[in-house]
Amino acid sequence: MNLLIRKIAPAVVWGILVKHAVAQNGTGRSGYDYVDPLIGTTNGGHVFPGATLPFGMAKAGPDIYGENQGGFASDGSPIYGFSHMHDSGTGGSPSLGNFPIFAQSGCPNGDINACKYVLWERMTDRINGTIHARPGYFDITLASNIRTEMTVTNHTALYRFTFPATPITPNTTSNPHILVELTDLPQTRSEGNITVYPSNGRITGSGRFSPSFGIGTYQSYFCLDFNGATVKDAGVWSNSRAARATSFKIVPGDVRQTPSDRPAGGWVQFEQPKENNQILARVGMSFISEAQACANAEREIPRNNFDAIVAAAESAWRAKLDVITIDGGSVSDSFLTTFWSGVYRSMISPQDYTGENPNWNSGEPYYDSFYCIWDSFRSIHPLLTLLDPQSQTLMIRSLLDIYRHEGWLPDCRMSHCKGFTQGGSNADIVITDAYLKNISEGIDWNLAYEAVVKDAEEEPPNWDVEGRGGLESWKTLGYIPTENIDVLGVGTETRSISRTVEYAYNDFTIALLARALGHTSDYNKYLARSGNWLNMFKPDQRSDINGTDTGFQGFLQPRYTNGTWGYQDPIFCSPLLDFTGCYLNPSGRETYEGPVWLYTFFAPGDMATLIRTLGGRETFVQRLNWLHESGILYVGDEQAFLKLFLYHYAGRPALSAQRAHQYIPSLFNDTVSGIPGNDDSGAMGSFVAFVMMGFFPNAGQDVYFIIPPFFESVSIKNGQTGKTATIRNVNFDAGYKNIYIQSAKMNGVSYTRNWLQHGFFLEGGVLELVLGDSESAWGTRVEDGPPSLGPYSNGTAARRRWDMGSVDLGFGAGGL
Ligand SMILES: *[C@@H]1O[C@H](CO)[C@@H](O)[C@H](O)[C@H]1NC(C)=O
Ligand SMILES: *[C@@H]1O[C@H](CO)[C@@H](O)[C@H](O)[C@H]1NC(C)=O
Ligand SMILES: *[C@@H]1O[C@H](CO)[C@@H](O)[C@H](O)[C@H]1NC(C)=O
Ligand SMILES: *[C@@H]1O[C@H](CO)[C@@H](O)[C@H](O)[C@H]1NC(C)=O
Ligand SMILES: *[C@@H]1O[C@H](CO)[C@@H](O)[C@H](O)[C@H]1NC(C)=O
Ligand SMILES: *[C@@H]1O[C@H](CO)[C@@H](O)[C@H](O)[C@H]1NC(C)=O
Ligand SMILES: *[C@@H]1O[C@H](CO)[C@@H](O)[C@H](O)[C@H]1NC(C)=O
Ligand SMILES: *[C@@H]1O[C@H](CO)[C@@H](O)[C@H](O)[C@H]1NC(C)=O
Ligand SMILES: *[C@@H]1O[C@H](CO)[C@@H](O)[C@H](O)[C@H]1NC(C)=O
Ligand SMILES: *[C@@H]1O[C@H](CO)[C@@H](O)[C@H](O)[C@H]1NC(C)=O
Repeated sequence: MNLLIRKIAPAVVWGILVKHAVAQNGTGRSGYDYVDPLIGTTNGGHVFPGATLPFGMAKAGPDIYGENQGGFASDGSPIYGFSHMHDSGTGGSPSLGNFPIFAQSGCPNGDINACKYVLWERMTDRINGTIHARPGYFDITLASNIRTEMTVTNHTALYRFTFPATPITPNTTSNPHILVELTDLPQTRSEGNITVYPSNGRITGSGRFSPSFGIGTYQSYFCLDFNGATVKDAGVWSNSRAARATSFKIVPGDVRQTPSDRPAGGWVQFEQPKENNQILARVGMSFISEAQACANAEREIPRNNFDAIVAAAESAWRAKLDVITIDGGSVSDSFLTTFWSGVYRSMISPQDYTGENPNWNSGEPYYDSFYCIWDSFRSIHPLLTLLDPQSQTLMIRSLLDIYRHEGWLPDCRMSHCKGFTQGGSNADIVITDAYLKNISEGIDWNLAYEAVVKDAEEEPPNWDVEGRGGLESWKTLGYIPTENIDVLGVGTETRSISRTVEYAYNDFTIALLARALGHTSDYNKYLARSGNWLNMFKPDQRSDINGTDTGFQGFLQPRYTNGTWGYQDPIFCSPLLDFTGCYLNPSGRETYEGPVWLYTFFAPGDMATLIRTLGGRETFVQRLNWLHESGILYVGDEQAFLKLFLYHYAGRPALSAQRAHQYIPSLFNDTVSGIPGNDDSGAMGSFVAFVMMGFFPNAGQDVYFIIPPFFESVSIKNGQTGKTATIRNVNFDAGYKNIYIQSAKMNGVSYTRNWLQHGFFLEGGVLELVLGDSESAWGTRVEDGPPSLGPYSNGTAARRRWDMGSVDLGFGAGGL
């Protein structure tokens, strides 16, 4: 690994570096000021737009009655409460949202039972135009004329309710009433406890809930305190009735006890607030106990100083974002907003639950909401490695600690529960990617290696939630047979094609790690297995659309244990044919969330072989063009990301740049609907962030594809070395006519490779790209392309090689 880093020439052009590293264009706006947390809050983005710290456990936001995966949505749905933990962008069920609170100005005629309790009675419209959101702060006014502002610390949400001088409800005096409900967004509560302390209005409670895309249950605890008004009355409620009782238990039994069967919670009513008609509600959260929830709140927000907490959240975000400096070069603000909001969303999850893990206490960091690694390995984790290596380091340690205590790396995990695996064991990729990019502090690489080898070798009893299925076939046949018979473990026997190509790439990254750690025979073994994707490639398969042949031959196809081919229409599960036919259900098919057309391009470590297999560079480029132009590619799913950049392997980096502008801003932009699919914990955000900075990772390898940044220049300060790397466009135009690299210089020296390595960011330097309005010869030669496994040029059977160690090799060049 370090070999590679040393190959990067030291930064010599410090003058340029300094000038652009500090570039500001006089407006004084920094990245923070451009973030719009509301992007992706409709159109299926499922983004959580509320208040959070970077990777914070507390995430305060409104919860709507409607499509509420992230709690809130920018649509007309009514709001039933504000809750304190969320996941952002999930495509699973709504996640978390435990213990929502809800405020009313008073109860009509002074009758406590005339206040509204159950969700469907109390939910209230928002007043359009009252929402103000920025990192660490959210503000909304409901039709009740009650304004709710919110902010957070790591484990505590803080709300500031401003009540109207005169309640809008008839016959109602200003006696604010705030309730809490023992529920969560997906309404899964199976047991719960609540205790009310009428002397000061404190309410504590707990509940048992289900994760949104996984198995098992988890317990969650809260501690709610108020400030700003004298308590008048307090108690518990159930269904639509309130009582002055001070505790309540919902125990599991024969009767269904979900929140819709039995809505329940606590309430407090106040005298008129002392100042500005405002009441603060502080909600400490914990996964350990009510006492810990209270301790978290008291430690983090001892003084109920709302504005100071907002300011602290703002500075936490500024510190994260300020590692990037952009010189926009007069691009419109909407591009800056799209970009910075993408960076912001990449840092919402995974969430730091250190000290809040009920399952073990090891002293290691504990992150949760790896939701899911299938989505996040491609660009979220590589982006965190680049922008926040310290956090990425803690996340890797946390993944390994999960392995240590549960026996397996997760592919998906939320709310302390195992989540569903969508394809391969993709933590393998995250781990190798981190290793190759010098993420190292406190990481036990021997343990990491043991963990990834276990994924590759040992089948878990339930491979729907960890590891891989069909490993016996994988080892003996070299593919996952369609309708495989598996006596080692149980899982959903679908996705034989997509699992095969993912397992192959998982093994490829294990091979890279084996090599780096000196396990030579393993290296050869996994390198050989990484070629298994070819075993499901049917050379004579063609693809037509409504009877018209697309003109391309050779696709992945289902294949049975006996070697016989099955058939899945190559466009099936694309937007052109039965788009939603391939999800994670028993009736799913042989690919996951996408068609054979898409998966046939998935061999990220073996691109030279793939290009040759598909008929050589020219045919490959035609096929890739067809993928992007026919409507078959849905860019709102993470597996599409890499498809923009495969042109680099065929010597056409200019076409990758073209594709980047095809999708940004038409599908990734600064509107509330500006994400084409689920954000999946910030995956779409990390994609747009990378692409607009002018490079994109091939996750699991020390490879970034170069395209021109969408800004005049981009500088990134590395958190491990303190060095700054700058990519600067020459001849930049904000109308994006000049998007083709004509020539490049790395620290003043001509640079012809169309890809970068992480050493550039660790060591700092300046990459200068001279742009023009048409494709040039830059980066087009075989030896300019990124490394790849590939056949030897003499076509021998001993065809597989990988030589990341020597950057001067024309990797895989021979076969093209
Ligand atoms: C508020 O905006 C939503 C769309 O975001 C719309 O459906 C609703 O009708 C609007 N409400 C009012 C009162 O204008
Ligand atoms: C919040 O947690 C992060 C780690 O995720 C830590 O760096 C930060 O200092 C914490 N903030 C406060 C105010 O404790
Ligand atoms: C308001 O109070 C008046 C007088 O007590 C009563 O007649 C009326 O029904 C009340 N209205 C509502 C909406 O409760
Ligand atoms: C409720 O309290 C009982 C003890 O009184 C405890 O056994 C149970 O685990 C609690 N339930 C939850 C969800 O915290
Ligand atoms: C740069 O200047 C433009 C035009 O004055 C302005 O809209 C933009 O916000 C400024 N900031 C950056 C970082 O480009
Ligand atoms: C890689 O990481 C190690 C340990 O953190 C550090 O000593 C070394 O300088 C790093 N290498 C580079 C090139 O930054
Ligand atoms: C192979 O297995 C498939 C699926 O069970 C079956 O349809 C096919 O007839 C078999 N082919 C041969 C040659 O046995
Ligand atoms: C195929 O034909 C059907 C029926 O005419 C039509 O609805 C569909 O849009 C066509 N699909 C494509 C991709 O052209
Ligand atoms: C923004 O992106 C969305 C979703 O991808 C798309 O539907 C919309 O047309 C785009 N809007 C603009 C102005 O490009
Ligand atoms: C083909 O090239 C490889 C790598 O240079 C070499 O090891 C092998 O012996 C060559 N085979 C033939 C038949 O020349």
